Amino acid sequence: MRCSSVWFKSVAGLALLFALSMNAHAEDGSAAWLRYVPISHPEIYKDLPSRIVIDGDSVSDHMAGVELQRGLTSLLGRNFTLEENRPMHTVGDLWLPNNAIVVRSFEWAQHHITADRVGPPPGPESYYISWNEQPGRLFIAGEHPTGDLFAAFHLLEEVAAQQPIPRTYRSTPSAPVRWVDEWDNLNGTIERGYAGPSIFFENGHVRQVLTRAGEYARLLASVGINGCNVNNVNADLDLLTTEHLKEFARIGDVFRPWGVKLALSVDLTSPQTVGGLDTFDPLDPKVTAWWQKKVDEIYTLIPDFGGFTVKADSEGRKGPSQYGRTPADAANVLARALAPHHGVVLYRGFVYNNHLDWHDLKADRARAGVDNFASLDGKFEKNVIIQIKEGPIDFQAREPISPLFAALRHTPQAIEVQTTQEYTGQQRHMVWLPSMWKWVLDTDMRVDGRPSPVKEIVTGKTFNQPTGGFVSVVNVGMEPNWLHHPMAMANLYGYGKLAWNPDEPLEKIIDTWTRLTWGNDPQVDRTIDAMQLKSWDVYESYTGPNGMGTLTNILGYHFGPGIESAERNGWGQWFRGDKDGVGMDRTVATGTGYIGQYPKELAERYESLATCPDDLLLFFHHVPYDYKLHSGKTLVQSIYDSHYEGALAAAEYVPQWESLKDKIDPERYEKTHALFEYQAGHAIVWRDAINNWFHHISGIDDALGRVGHDPNRIEAEAMKTGGYQTVDVVPWETGSAGKAVECHDAKGCTLTTTLEKLAGTYDIAVQYFDIWRGVSTYTLSVNGAEISTWKSDDTLPPAQPDPRLDGQTSTRRTIRHVALKPGDVLELKGLPDLRLELFHGAQAAGLMGAQGLRMQPNLQEYAPVDYIEIGPDGPITPQ
Ligand code: GCU
Repeated sequence: MRCSSVWFKSVAGLALLFALSMNAHAEDGSAAWLRYVPISHPEIYKDLPSRIVIDGDSVSDHMAGVELQRGLTSLLGRNFTLEENRPMHTVGDLWLPNNAIVVRSFEWAQHHITADRVGPPPGPESYYISWNEQPGRLFIAGEHPTGDLFAAFHLLEEVAAQQPIPRTYRSTPSAPVRWVDEWDNLNGTIERGYAGPSIFFENGHVRQVLTRAGEYARLLASVGINGCNVNNVNADLDLLTTEHLKEFARIGDVFRPWGVKLALSVDLTSPQTVGGLDTFDPLDPKVTAWWQKKVDEIYTLIPDFGGFTVKADSEGRKGPSQYGRTPADAANVLARALAPHHGVVLYRGFVYNNHLDWHDLKADRARAGVDNFASLDGKFEKNVIIQIKEGPIDFQAREPISPLFAALRHTPQAIEVQTTQEYTGQQRHMVWLPSMWKWVLDTDMRVDGRPSPVKEIVTGKTFNQPTGGFVSVVNVGMEPNWLHHPMAMANLYGYGKLAWNPDEPLEKIIDTWTRLTWGNDPQVDRTIDAMQLKSWDVYESYTGPNGMGTLTNILGYHFGPGIESAERNGWGQWFRGDKDGVGMDRTVATGTGYIGQYPKELAERYESLATCPDDLLLFFHHVPYDYKLHSGKTLVQSIYDSHYEGALAAAEYVPQWESLKDKIDPERYEKTHALFEYQAGHAIVWRDAINNWFHHISGIDDALGRVGHDPNRIEAEAMKTGGYQTVDVVPWETGSAGKAVECHDAKGCTLTTTLEKLAGTYDIAVQYFDIWRGVSTYTLSVNGAEISTWKSDDTLPPAQPDPRLDGQTSTRRTIRHVALKPGDVLELKGLPDLRLELFHGAQAAGLMGAQGLRMQPNLQEYAPVDYIEIGPDGPITPQ
């Protein structure tokens, strides 16, 4: 069907209007990397024709055309026209207009433009771009319509980043599975989600308005992601009712134009919970028939449904073990039902016993993957993919590679990584995770002594598997910018890029993201690229270096420090720190034998202290504190130094960001600035908690005399108080000297001290606890003159509000450049939030505790304070 020129003109006019109005929008981050802000040098693309002609008639072709028109019009500040649906037969096979951007099929290109050397068909999602200034023709061809879409986004990215258009460019994704998982619940909450409620669900149903879901699919398509599992791996038990499935079909509808397949996590008990059967035994014929029928029903509603993700026999989820069956038995039943429809089962390798015996020195959670799955290799149907977390424990700041990757030679695999920063700062700390993923993907497992990097195993190359790929848990939310921290979307962007091409250089990925997100100013790009590239290293160094895992509160929030929470329980995230030494002995010789699960070369490298890398040492070995690392430092000194260096590096983000103030829009500048200030303060909480804990347990002093000596610090409990009362902080290491003060007086309380500082200007930091419920008010004055007042109104991360004074809630406020002289009187006034509804709310939630009102957990917010620290003037937070 050909459209009239009137139609084209009006569409083009609308596109220009839309593009212009888009730029007038506030910079709330919702556009992510697809901002299409006018570039500063549009003349680079002056030869690019303004006419876009689309041959195909699929919905993805339509989206490709609209996206090109929208993006180029906005980026280049001139009008691009769009002619859609120009099938070959209307104009003859050789039709290829000059002075146009032409989108046609790959097959056509092979027949007709040999001069451009299109080459052999690459793969279903591949694309080809050729650019010829002379006839003024830019040609785009996808093997499949989604390839056209990927190509359109690639072209737009090059233009937005002001890169030259290549004469010819071919691109093929590394693997067929490039999915994201969202851990959203039907009630609208998100497990480990840090950016607001679900974009898919609310109150037990799919949202009426799915605009955000469609926008999300567009973002995913723009980086080559082709599947999205929308619900929690801990799946709602009634998920597969017909009523819900009909609603999910609406999500499938908004995904489809972008080539993103909808997938679901399912609970294996569904034949019972939804089907009313008396069993969910996968080998029971009734159960098999039920799955078959359910899958057929799904495909009548969602014809391009991607498949199921399964979490079973793990963390309280039921599974086939209940009937003495294996993961293969369970996965195969689902796989056989899905196969005729080309669906897949992503069966998670995350199967382990969370009731391990801590006293048993041979018990080891890390062994579970290989112990549970290696013997099943080759027993899975062809469309079952084992989804394996990158490390053997759980998304820590650093873990070794899961040995399961090397143990499955006859079974497709997908690597699972986590974009949502569960253990890596929950989108309040900047951590660019592609650095970690690339390290994982490049790790050579040396299977049979041959090169076998993880990236080649999961893409099916090493063991010649027909499928496999990548999954990332993302958990975007309703916050406008999707992941809360303006820097966090670089993780999703980088994930898409690495899944498409694991060999893409990190520097290129981050630089393109920065240009698209923050503009093409060289200083902005240099600064942000450098910050992001080192951020994983920085985070690891102030949380859990040397392979200790993230020493966080593993029993709840997984956010701030909570060191001993990892020990003495069944979860198996032990690091076994005692007065003599630290680390899990996983050697074959004397430990749990886990190291023996790796291929020989890797096992030998990890087993021997002489060759085990420093950054994984404590994952594999238990060593004394004075053990000498390859770096030449003793272990304990290295721990101390690493935390000081890491916290300092995090503090430096603040002035680095401030150097860009005039070059960034105010909205995103302020939001990012506040988060960097927060991170600087929280990195100090981490630093002090871990260093003080190791100092206490090892009894070994810091050679540089820093740990336990904070000459600039004034403990709140040591100040003159007007109404404040001293309380214990639990665990002790998350509060300075293990104590803090609280105010239970509705009129407020004060802390005062007379300073004996040399005359000069100083930074004053107030360390207090913001317990995410209630809003206390603090006012700091010098000699009665107020210098700062603020409210402790933090409500994030929203997933689980923490009512305690601890490493999650400890927060720092820094007031800079304050003139002080000897004899000045410093006063901090705290006004608690004693609203009764907080008290009743906490009571109802069972937070009252046996110790009553004045002990933790807090029921209201008692304006708690830990200490005040006054350091010399400068951009860096006082140390
Ligand atoms: C972690 C996470 C859980 C999640 C689990 C999983 O343990 O804390 O919330 O359910 O991983 O991946 O299944």
